[in-house]
Amino acid sequence: MKKLVLLPAAALLAMGISTASNATDMPPIAKKSGCTACHAIDKKVVGPGWAAVSTRYKGDAGAKAALVAKVKKGGKGNWTEVTKGVPMPPYSPRVSDANIEELVTFILGISG
Ligand code: HEC
Repeated sequence: MKKLVLLPAAALLAMGISTASNATDMPPIAKKSGCTACHAIDKKVVGPGWAAVSTRYKGDAGAKAALVAKVKKGGKGNWTEVTKGVPMPPYSPRVSDANIEELVTFILGISG
C-alpha cells in the first residue's frame, strides 16, 4: 500500500516536475543529501531559503548551470546580506551530478 502512495511523487520528481510551488516541505532527496541542515524552503536557516533563491534567479537562463556549479564546488558572496558571509560547502562528489541537477531543478521550480 505504501508503494502506491510514494510512487507518483517519485515519478514526478524524476521527470523534473516541481510539485512544490506552494509547499514548504523539503523533498526527500534534499534530506538525503544533507541540504536540510542549512536550508528550508520558505525561510533562512544557515543558508538562504530556497524560495528566495528561486525568486532571485527567475528568468535567468544561466542560473541552472551557475547553481549546479555552486552546489558542486561551494562558494560564498551571493547571499552575504542573509548569511553574514557563511559559505555554501562543496557537495561534489558526495552527491552525484545527477542528484545535484535534480536539486537545482527543484529549487528553480519553486517560484514557477
Ligand atoms: C553548511 C550549511 C549548508 C549546507 C549543508 C548546504 N548549503 Fe546551500 N548554501 C549555504 C550558504 C551559507 C549559502 C549562501 C552562499 C553565498 O552567500 O553565496 C548557500 C547557498 C545555496 C544556493 C544558492 C547559491 C547562489 O549562488 O545563489 C543553492 C542553490 C544551494 N545553497 C543549494 C544547496 C543544496 C542543493 C544543498 C545540499 C546538496 C545545500 N545547499 C547544502 C549553506 C549550506
